Amino acid sequence: MADIDQNRHPFLDGLSKHRGSPPTVIVIFGASGDLTARKLVPAIYNLGYDNLLPADFRLVGFGRREIPDDAFRTMARDAVKEFSRRELNEDIWDKVGRSTFYTAGGYDDAAAFDRLKKRIEGLEKDLGRKLQSLFYISTPPSVFEPILQNLGRSGLAARHLGTRQMSKVVIEKPFGRDLESARRLNQVISGVFREDQVYRIDHYLGKETVQDLLVQRFANSIFEPLMNRRYVDCVQITVAEDIGVGSRGSYYEQSGATRDMIQNHTMQLLSLMAMEPPVSLDPESIRDEKVKLLKAVEPLNLSPEHGDVVRAQYADGLVSGQAVPGYTRESSVESESNTETYAALRVSINNWRWAGVPFYLRSGKRMARRVSEIAIIFKRPPGSLFSDSEQFHLAQNSLAFQIQPDEGSTVVLNAKIPGLETRTQPVRMHFRYSTTFGSNTPEAYERLVLDAMVGDSTLFIRGDETEASWKLITPLHEFWSSVGRRGMETYAGGSWGPLAAERLLWENGHEWRRP
Ligand code: BG6
Repeated sequence: MADIDQNRHPFLDGLSKHRGSPPTVIVIFGASGDLTARKLVPAIYNLGYDNLLPADFRLVGFGRREIPDDAFRTMARDAVKEFSRRELNEDIWDKVGRSTFYTAGGYDDAAAFDRLKKRIEGLEKDLGRKLQSLFYISTPPSVFEPILQNLGRSGLAARHLGTRQMSKVVIEKPFGRDLESARRLNQVISGVFREDQVYRIDHYLGKETVQDLLVQRFANSIFEPLMNRRYVDCVQITVAEDIGVGSRGSYYEQSGATRDMIQNHTMQLLSLMAMEPPVSLDPESIRDEKVKLLKAVEPLNLSPEHGDVVRAQYADGLVSGQAVPGYTRESSVESESNTETYAALRVSINNWRWAGVPFYLRSGKRMARRVSEIAIIFKRPPGSLFSDSEQFHLAQNSLAFQIQPDEGSTVVLNAKIPGLETRTQPVRMHFRYSTTFGSNTPEAYERLVLDAMVGDSTLFIRGDETEASWKLITPLHEFWSSVGRRGMETYAGGSWGPLAAERLLWENGHEWRRP
């Protein structure tokens, strides 16, 4: 009997047979940065482990610091050791490590990009074949533009255009900081690359459970008929973290919860949850539906009285019994900071399916625990056969998709308590990924790096999608900058957010589900 590798996820056996990437060189801009060490290099290593890297594969780090190839290999190996979901296997690392190189240069230094081009041509010459170049921009956003311009000017962007080895570019978030800068960035990109060469990342789309949303919604006939204003009372999307801003204070001061989490990750969950069924699973059909949904979102009511938005900052508090400092006491944070670490939005979607159903979105740092979920709360049954009382303890039916941790879904039903009397109690039906499929699933970045290499853009954001979501969020920032700290709430670190966010739901007769 063949050995089963417990480290290998079953989905890979089907995958490797029909997905192949052309020979590829991945060039990471921002090679000594945090994301490279924590996510990108471990993702590449794990793809190597699963035999999903092309036979001819090269990795080139690019950054401002002078680092010899050998030293960069050691940095990459250390990153795998510290951050990979699997332990470092020397044989596998050996192959990836031998394919790893480094080129130093400034992002606005044209000569450095000419050197990079020569290096890629040299790698091709050694291998005796053409390589696809995948340029991964993982730098601070201030240098996105010079990198893109230099990729264009040096001819790197246009290498092997029209063939399987054509160049591609992956762009990390944040994609702009408002509608205007996102538009400007899209213009710069389209001046250099064709849209089918561009992969805008939102790593939430690489999460297994986010991809599963489409399957849950459209491969099961029991849920979809209920997903509309006739049966749904409200939808709640929570992306909560228990961590604070840690050492990222200076980044976060420029960003805040709406730019860091709501405009991208939370809006992606909203569009996948609420969009119409696409005509097919091809990338454009799915992205067309997401854009259509985002365009149907009504502008937010920003009025301080009964408006649609609550913002807040965490104050001192307790997380897992440990005292934690409030946001304005974190390092690199202004003591009078106007940056929100929590935001809750009430979103209305003006289409036939959802008109009148509030979608509540919330995201925050230093909340009670790390949890992301989408909960669909259904209307109560009509009539009063069973009405909530001491005898009949009833809950509204709900269907919750747990994105992380504890991935799965839960349905809440009312059931009769066994016995001679008729008494009821809410009960939960759970599906758990880990119980059914095991827990060693690939990380989001593995999936996304692989998809970009094979040219599947389904899980990446199209230019018009980013603009549609900035269109909703930008007026909010303009309003906040005009009012300073007015309306900024606080919440204790380790809590579920400010009281004002509870009130936002009470106004409609709803309350937040405790995930
Ligand atoms: C990033 C944000 O995009 O997502 C971080 O910049 C946040 O602030 C992170 O912590 C959360 O990602 P995950 O995958 O841990 O939920």
